[in-house]
Amino acid sequence: MMFRSQIVGCGAYLPARIVTNDELAGRLDTSDEWIRQRTGIGERRIAADGELTSDLAFHAARQALERGGMSGNDLDLIVLATATPDETFPATAVKVQARLGMKRGAAFDVQAVCSGFIFALAVADNALRLGQARTALVIGAETFSRILDWQDRGTCVLFGDGAGALVLNAVADAGPTSRGILSTHLHSDGRQHDILYVDGGPSSTGMAGCLRMQGREVFRQAVQHLSGVVDEALAANGLSPADIDWLVPHQANTRIIDAVGRKLGLSADKTVVTIERHANTSAASIPLALEEAVTDGRIRPGHLVLMEALGGGLTWGASIARW
Ligand code: ACO
Repeated sequence: MMFRSQIVGCGAYLPARIVTNDELAGRLDTSDEWIRQRTGIGERRIAADGELTSDLAFHAARQALERGGMSGNDLDLIVLATATPDETFPATAVKVQARLGMKRGAAFDVQAVCSGFIFALAVADNALRLGQARTALVIGAETFSRILDWQDRGTCVLFGDGAGALVLNAVADAGPTSRGILSTHLHSDGRQHDILYVDGGPSSTGMAGCLRMQGREVFRQAVQHLSGVVDEALAANGLSPADIDWLVPHQANTRIIDAVGRKLGLSADKTVVTIERHANTSAASIPLALEEAVTDGRIRPGHLVLMEALGGGLTWGASIARW
């Protein structure tokens, strides 16, 4: 029997503390105007002292499970995407597993930075399609505030903390019109390491390190690779841009989002944009945006949703789902 991964619930969690551009401008040589104009960001959430990636992930996961009418006991698999794990090991996913009361199956992390959610979704979708698991939780959760150089105005204004989660159920595949994940498409290019990385880690410096970025080069590569992978995802499903109900991009920069939308010929009102309030939450940005658009009624059952992301590595990917 062939299976398909149906989406049965989504959840989100944002830390309580809001940090506005004006607050940053009080500490750094920057301004609300500069940040909004270059990035579309107005504010970001920052995790409290002692509030960890696993805490954000747990809250988002619990909401996704509740909305799917399920509990941790029903899960076979957790795949958690993060570049900011609580500890070097074990995986943040196993901490979430324990808190959800899930006693069977497996939980592990996936590391693809800002593309992490698409990579985690692909891993879970493949396991469900193969019949290795019947129910999976896919989480994107980050506390990028902990790996930022707060003296570097070129990077620290861009990121925020948060988490989002999806619950997937394996159902019999009823052909191309059935609901669920239609396809996932993953890429990386390790030669591009130096344009976006963290200058630390257990094997190099023994410290967590800080994010370093050549913004212009990331911008250039993002537009090029995202356009390519979006075309690949549409072609794989015999779809054209006009078939897409919602573009749900990784939220890095409104100018990147707009450029990809323009290349696709998608009007701006078909794109879910949360960057103004969330900033760039790395692996959490797509599930946070999905949760918002599902909860406010924009994304409805049967809609075709195109997700895309690019991040450090470089890594990039896309997925199309019939909601
Ligand atoms: N406030 C005020 N001025 C600033 C700030 C700031 N926060 N940051 C940088 N500047 C200054 C720079 O110092 C520079 O000044 P100078 O000309 O005197 O040297 C000037 O602004 C222009 O700097 P650039 O880096 O060339 O600015 P750019 O127009 O490229 O915008 C930005 C920078 C917003 C980072 C842009 O390159 C970008 O968005 N790149 C994409 C990177 C991205 O989104 N990364 C996220 C992670 S990857 C991902 O998620 C896809």
